[in-house]
Amino acid sequence: MGRISILRLGHRIVRDKRLTTHVVLTARAFGANEVIVSGERDDGLISKLEKFIEKWGGEFKIRFEENWREAIERWKRNEGKIIHLTMYGVNLPDVIEELRRIWDQNNIMIIVGSQKVPREVYELADYNIAVSNQPHSEVAALAILLDWLFQGRELSKEFPNAELRIVPQLHGKKVIRLR
Ligand SMILES: C[S@@+](CC[C@H](N)C(=O)[O-])C[C@H]1O[C@@H](n2cnc3c(N)ncnc32)[C@H](O)[C@@H]1O
Repeated sequence: MGRISILRLGHRIVRDKRLTTHVVLTARAFGANEVIVSGERDDGLISKLEKFIEKWGGEFKIRFEENWREAIERWKRNEGKIIHLTMYGVNLPDVIEELRRIWDQNNIMIIVGSQKVPREVYELADYNIAVSNQPHSEVAALAILLDWLFQGRELSKEFPNAELRIVPQLHGKKVIRLR
């Protein structure tokens, strides 16, 4: 299985602070390796998320990329395939077997939008994929695609070198400090 990188398009500092944060946390928790944020440069958000990732462990990376077109073209040249999540695409159940096959052989970049996604993205993508052909959210679409790719295994992923670890409880909260 290849690496999974998420490209978050069109980040706006004020309007998208929470949603971009949730895209990053969801990508990390559900097994992706990296998020590339594009749109308005938001160094504050990136360094806050890097501190968070440091605390909870794992190898996850996050970075800003000024030029999304260049990031997509570089991925196509050097890394692998592009999946663009859009409600206008082919519905996930109709294409999941093929996506698992291409992920077996290639690294994949998953693109999610915020505001209107430029037409060019639909053309550059190898696969335009919908998680149902109804409008909802980039966070939900990303979570479901990752879960369908990993088939639930991502929920038991280990995050090495964490400072904090949760000890699961039926009632209450227990967190241990490891370093
Ligand atoms: C709130 S939507 C805005 C989309 C925008 N109106 C457009 O036409 O491109 C933000 C992002 O959520 C994701 N999204 C929303 N609904 C989706 C669906 N049914 N399937 C896949 N992705 C979806 C897409 O990545 C989209 O770019």
